[in-house]
Amino acid sequence: MAFELPPLPYDYSALEPTIDTATMKLHHDMHHAAYVKNLNAALEKHPNLQSKSAEDLIRDLNAVPEDIRGAVRNNGGGHVNHSMFWKIMKPKGGGDPSGLIAEAIQKSFGSFKDFQAKFNDAGVKQFGSGWVWLAGKRSGEVQILSTPNQDSPISQGLFPIFGNDVWEHAYYLKYNNRRPEYLAAWWNVVNWDEINKRYASLKSGQLEPALAR
Ligand SMILES: [Fe+2]
Repeated sequence: MAFELPPLPYDYSALEPTIDTATMKLHHDMHHAAYVKNLNAALEKHPNLQSKSAEDLIRDLNAVPEDIRGAVRNNGGGHVNHSMFWKIMKPKGGGDPSGLIAEAIQKSFGSFKDFQAKFNDAGVKQFGSGWVWLAGKRSGEVQILSTPNQDSPISQGLFPIFGNDVWEHAYYLKYNNRRPEYLAAWWNVVNWDEINKRYASLKSGQLEPALAR
């Protein structure tokens, strides 16, 4: 069974004005779709891996045959990262976090504002394409990190609680080269309910919310 592009959980225009309709269409229908297509193409060479989840594939990249390792890293990562990304945003999102994630942020960063400043800074400083993350350990401890390309915290043994896509394809049509402006505005569409669910799944030991194939 091949991996499939999950549908957007809202309309292309739902995140306006923070993220414009044209960007959402391109990002989901072209970029994410390409990661899925290329992941499936790579796995055709090793059908025994087709039953694994994309998370399992990128968790231990050394276990992936060398001839498709790069393709799985980039496209499996792209599929996992984007599948998370659509869900951790929503129309009329944003505001201050609540619940367990609010407590974890306060404990590690002092305040939500300080956390946001550090997260945005890490996103600005990620050179070229990549992601900025709040990632967690099984213990519930959280940290900010950035990764290049489509690399996932999963490959470093960390759980991606949420992340923002800082590839130019995520913001260039509306924000041009003003990545800091995009990072600052993005908090208006963050879905804290979904992020709390993901954080709860980490703390309960059920690490991966099932990913649509
Ligand atoms: Fe992207």
